[in-house]
Amino acid sequence: MAQKEFQRRRTFAIISHPDAGKTTLTEKLLLYGGAIHAAGAVKSRKAKRSAVSDWMALEKQRGISVTSSVLQFEYDDIRWNLLDTPGHNDFSEDTYRTLMAADCAIMILDAARGVEPQTRKLFHVCRMRNTPVVTFINKMDRPARDAFALMSDVEEVLGVSTVPFTWPIGSGDLFQGVYDRRNEAVLRFERSSEGQAKRAEMKVTGIDDPELDSLLGEEPAQTLRDEIELLDGAGEEWDEARFLAGDLTPVFFGSALTNFGVEPFLQSFKGLCPAPGQRQASGDVTVNPSDDRFSAFVFKVQANMDPSHRDRIAFARICSGKFEGGMRVHHYRLGKAIRLNRAEQFFAQDRENVLEAFAGDIIGLYDPGLFRIGDTLSTEGPMVFDAVPRFSPEHFGRLQLLDPLKRKQLQKGIQELSEEGTVQLFSEPGREKDPVCGVVGRLQFEVLMFRLEHEYGAKVTFDLLPYQYARWVEGAADCEELKARRVPMAVLDRDNRPVALFRDEWELGRAARDNENWIFHETAPIVAAA
Ligand code: G4P
Repeated sequence: MAQKEFQRRRTFAIISHPDAGKTTLTEKLLLYGGAIHAAGAVKSRKAKRSAVSDWMALEKQRGISVTSSVLQFEYDDIRWNLLDTPGHNDFSEDTYRTLMAADCAIMILDAARGVEPQTRKLFHVCRMRNTPVVTFINKMDRPARDAFALMSDVEEVLGVSTVPFTWPIGSGDLFQGVYDRRNEAVLRFERSSEGQAKRAEMKVTGIDDPELDSLLGEEPAQTLRDEIELLDGAGEEWDEARFLAGDLTPVFFGSALTNFGVEPFLQSFKGLCPAPGQRQASGDVTVNPSDDRFSAFVFKVQANMDPSHRDRIAFARICSGKFEGGMRVHHYRLGKAIRLNRAEQFFAQDRENVLEAFAGDIIGLYDPGLFRIGDTLSTEGPMVFDAVPRFSPEHFGRLQLLDPLKRKQLQKGIQELSEEGTVQLFSEPGREKDPVCGVVGRLQFEVLMFRLEHEYGAKVTFDLLPYQYARWVEGAADCEELKARRVPMAVLDRDNRPVALFRDEWELGRAARDNENWIFHETAPIVAAA
């Protein structure tokens, strides 16, 4: 039973730069999946734009809603788990960590912009775990960059090979549709009066079919033939193993807004997105999703929506076995058995009590303070996944307490928020009173100031520091040693490991060249041993 159940799970995330069309595509996927019935139900764009200010003004709406952390829907006898990777105002380390729980990612690019900075960062995180990535090039109904230029952009900036599964016929006002290379079909794009696309599929007998000329016009048909010939001759061959290793990405073109190309994309994605696979636990233990032994790791902890209670929800990704409500599991970090009483799953907008769940599923565990990001839970005794690293923050600020009498409150707050993963704490030897905080999205500083003041009563400010990169240095004993070797700033993380901060890649490169016997890690494991 468990065997069959995990095989029909697909757990994925969508990565993109703001405005590329993630919300629009998500809406469309949920519509096809039957999880929602009218577009606009995911999160209205207006609401999304003001999410952070609303959040700051209204205590009740804490960041993204819990229900949007993971969405489940059934489509074609597959249970889809779509993980939310906030890419907007609330861009934070959460976004990176969530990717650790996904088995596949959809990368959306804006056809007029190609690869943008946030996409690059998120792609890099997928690469760390060799997560397969499927690319959807969106907004083809608008003026777009040349399709070959977009392919080279992906290849050069991201260092991944591309294989177009579909190929655009024109763009912008001249966009006629896409050629489906694998099925040798032309999907025609026709704008309907409501601004949506009417789907008109035409099976041709191949790219040389003379029907193409009358269908598309002679010139566009010839251009398409030339381009496909070029792709067939000089393009990469499809190689599933390389895709699964994250080394090659299939590419689709379409327009999420007008619905064009979404259904064929979802159909192909169904075949591409892998079912849950093996995961490594420490001590060279390989965990198979079909194992009877239950195992899961916590990748996100979120403060409950109810501000009057300090309880939280811990999101855990199941890696093997079967979860049953009320089951007893071993909690590795705490070194003891606990009972998992209250767990929830999320169907579209609804939260439901979960009675059973399988590998690939995400469960939301009611957390009275037991869970931290990175925690492993398992039956049959202790085991630990090294699944959720701490990522290098990209912004640093020295925290200043404005009211010295509130130091206790500050300490409690900052401790709890760092356990929740909202911020990484560092201390500089000699200046321990003013900790250095690291975050991935700059707006997190405002979120921190707000939460420290409103939830803990400690008013603070941040003096921004000019660093962009943190590296955990293997081989260096302490901060003194780092500083002696011209590292611009040396701090200790919360486990007292030495961390070097750098302003830019040049500084980082110089330090690496000057200290060849050191290893500069861009992530640090966050599991504390039992
Ligand atoms: P995001 O979640 O990645 O930030 O992007 P989102 O879906 O919110 O889309 C950003 C903007 O791009 C929206 O316009 C959306 O309508 C538009 N868009 C998304 N996909 C397509 C597409 O395929 N073609 C075209 N032409 N536009 C697309 P907006 O003006 O910001 O919002 P709205 O006024 O349309 O609601």
